[in-house]
Order: sequence, then C-alpha cells, then structure tokens
Amino acid sequence: MLNNIVKKEKLAYGVHLFWIENPIISKKAKPGQFVIFRIHEGGERIPLTISKTKGNMFRVIVKAVGKSTYELCKLKENDYIKDVVGPLGTPSEIKRYGRVLVIGGGVGIAAIAPIVDALINVGNKVDTILAARNKESIILEDEFKDSENLYFATNDGSKGEKLFPNQLMEKLIKEEKYDVVWAIGPALMMKACSEVAKQHNLKIFVSLNAIMVDGTGMCGGCRVRIKDTLKYTCVDGPEFDGRDVDWNSFLTRLSQYKAEEKKALENYLKIVGEPTWL
Ligand SMILES: Cc1cc2nc3c(=O)[nH]c(=O)nc-3n(C[C@H](O)[C@H](O)[C@H](O)COP(=O)(O)OP(=O)(O)OC[C@H]3O[C@@H](n4cnc5c(N)ncnc54)[C@H](O)[C@@H]3O)c2cc1C
Ligand code: FES
Repeated sequence: MLNNIVKKEKLAYGVHLFWIENPIISKKAKPGQFVIFRIHEGGERIPLTISKTKGNMFRVIVKAVGKSTYELCKLKENDYIKDVVGPLGTPSEIKRYGRVLVIGGGVGIAAIAPIVDALINVGNKVDTILAARNKESIILEDEFKDSENLYFATNDGSKGEKLFPNQLMEKLIKEEKYDVVWAIGPALMMKACSEVAKQHNLKIFVSLNAIMVDGTGMCGGCRVRIKDTLKYTCVDGPEFDGRDVDWNSFLTRLSQYKAEEKKALENYLKIVGEPTWL
C-alpha cells in the first residue's frame, strides 16, 4: 500500500508518531531530509522531518499547532495520506568531526534521532541534550542510549537541569571541546544556541522550519537570508550554519500569517468540537 498509516502512537499531549508505508521514501531518505504531506484534495501542505526508516516505512513525529496538524493527528491507523512528496532537502553533513554536541528541543528531538545515529556510525563521539518544557514532553529518550553522554534540560526542572538548552550548551562548552554542534527545535531555541556558537566560534547546524508550499525551490515561499544572500530552505536547506542565519527576518516571516492561522484553527474547531484526540 502507498502512504497508509501502519502505526500511530501518542507520545505526549498533541505529539503523535506515525509510521507510513512508502518504499521509495524509506529506501532513499537520508538524515536531515523531510517530506511534504497533503492529507486530502485541496488540503494545506505540511512539511515534516523524516525521523527514521524501517523496511518499507518511514516515521514522522507531528506536533499539533494549527488546523492541518490537528487534522493530521486526527487520522487513525489504516487511514491514508493523500499525497506524500519526498525525500526533500539537502541531507545533513554527516562526516567524522570528532566530538559533536547535538541538541533537540521539543518535537525537534524527532529530527535529531537519525542525525545522532549517523554521526555515531561514522565514528564521532556524540553528546546529546534533550530539551523540553517538562518531563512529559521529552520524547524518544530510549533512542539516544548510544550517546557518549545524554543530558536533559527542562524549563520546570522536572527532568535533568532546570535550564534552557542554550544555557546547558554554554555550560558544556566550557567543560568539553566540541568540533561542531547541531541544534534543532523551536526557532527561538535555535537562534539562542546559534548566539552561543557564535561567541565560541563553533559551527552549528540548525534546521529551519520556514513556511513552505511546493518544496521544490519554485514558489519562493521558504526564502531565508543567509549571510546576506537569499536561499531557499527547501532545496538549499533545511540545515544551515546558524551563525549565518538572519534570525530577525526569519522570525518575522514565520509570524506573517499568525492571524489567518489562528482563524483557520478556530473555524476548524467550530466544526469538529473539542480536540479530544490530541
Ligand atoms: C523542513 C521542515 C520540517 C518540519 N518538521 C516537522 C516535524 O518533524 N514535526 C512537526 O511537528 N513539525 C515540523 N515542521 C513544522 C510543520 O510543518 C508546521 O508546524 C505545520 O506545517 C503547521 O501547519 P498547521 O496548519 O497545523 O499550522 P498553522 O496554523 O498553519 O501554523 C502554525 C505554525 O506553523 C508554521 N507553519 C505553517 N505552515 C507551515 C508550513 N507549510 N511549513 C512550515 N511551517 C509552517 C507557522 O508559521 C506557525 O508558526 C517542519 C517544518 C519544516 C519547514
Ligand atoms: S517551498 Fe517553494 S521555494 Fe521552497
């Protein structure tokens, strides 16, 4: 079958894991790449990172934030995704760096899982930080056991350190010499980690969650300013050196449709009622 949901699991409130059958994507996908889903005819396009592959299936982990992701999280096992395009984007730059620090924040933990595995497989020593607002929002902890050191940072201190991930990053950098950093999570977290990396003259890969439409470099929707040049996140990224990203223009573009997005979710909830499935 193509694009059917083989397995669905709730990992935290509003965060759902999906295994989707699609042999082409599962065979070709590399760490750092993503797919674009369209749930039904006329639906919005949802970019999602490929978080793992197994046989004929690939995994995505979705956080419900607006109308389309609420709709996606409502689907059940054996339902189908109408269209899935991928794998898209330039894969992560996996090579032997030496000592690597990888930071995953919230649903960004799903994106770092294949990157950590690939970095360890080519001989790097990887320290991993899993960060979230609280203990309940830390996902996939078991998948990071092969890290040299596994650290946790929560906003409320319910697991690991009561620190923001950039603060824990700063602390670790003072104790250990890292050759490169990855930080994937909310835009503000990636911006803060990039500032720390800049101060310490350290290369940092971030994965930009720009607003995307076609995912092929044609529509211009996902353009970002990197070191004074315009790049398309979907084909030139999604990973860039966070020190080169013009974060202010990126954050402004991300919030450009906030009012429309809020309205779309309100209208959807008027039709479906309480989102009890989240
Ligand atoms: C390369 C890439 C990989 C991503 N991987 C994941 C992932 O693995 N898991 C996950 O939960 N989310 C991921 N996202 C974000 C996810 O695509 C958006 O949360 C989703 O499209 C929001 O749609 P919505 O209708 O539910 O929310 P909306 O109400 O439309 O928007 C809510 C928020 O999502 C952002 N957003 C809206 N549309 C898009 C869009 N087409 N592309 C990107 N952001 C958008 C808005 O700026 C806003 O901040 C990824 C985004 C990109 C670009
Ligand atoms: S999504 Fe259209 S150019 Fe990138």
